[in-house]
Amino acid sequence: MNKLVIYGSIYGATKDYANELANSIDANIVSIKDIDANDLDAFDVIVIGSGIYASGLVASKKIHKILKNYKDKNKKFIVYTVGIADPKNNAKHLHDLVYKQLPKEECATFELFHLRGCLDYSKLSLKHKIMMFMLKQMIKHKKQKTIEDEYILKTYGSVVNFVDFDTLKPIVDSVNAFENSKNEKV
Ligand SMILES: Cc1cc2nc3c(=O)[nH]c(=O)nc-3n(C[C@H](O)[C@H](O)[C@H](O)COP(=O)(O)O)c2cc1C
Repeated sequence: MNKLVIYGSIYGATKDYANELANSIDANIVSIKDIDANDLDAFDVIVIGSGIYASGLVASKKIHKILKNYKDKNKKFIVYTVGIADPKNNAKHLHDLVYKQLPKEECATFELFHLRGCLDYSKLSLKHKIMMFMLKQMIKHKKQKTIEDEYILKTYGSVVNFVDFDTLKPIVDSVNAFENSKNEKV
């Protein structure tokens, strides 16, 4: 069974998860920047990881294109997000965030997981420093803050690393279950 892990990562957390996952499930790995969305016929399992930036996914258009192209091709699709908030208390918000960016008909085609990433303000690009400053100002004035908002305020200006490879286990289990079910049918 051929497996591929695709990652959209700017500061490395999504890529680190992708590397670990690819090792665990014996998959190929590639950055979303380098993938041709029309050339994935060879893969039975496709996992797409994306960092969250201002409530958006990295390369959401390309993710959409991949799902659209292959949704009827009998493949197993998994999407995972990587953000700063703890997904345990925030799953619905994160699910909605993803579903808002991808058309409904594609959302039924993948399993969705959420992982935690990292932030080091000293390493952010100027553009991202400005974005975070503006985000902070906006959040400060919001009456009803989301859990994500609270984490952005709490971690503003600091170095935090919540990357935890153990949280990949549900994804590994899902891929293994799919592979076992296919092997049983043969
Ligand atoms: C400009 C900027 C905006 C961000 N926006 C969000 C956000 O809306 N929600 C969130 O959970 N995390 C947000 N983050 C945190 C990133 O999702 C986190 O750093 C993650 O590790 C990014 O993945 P990467 O390291 O693979 O690029 C933001 C980070 C930056 C720098």
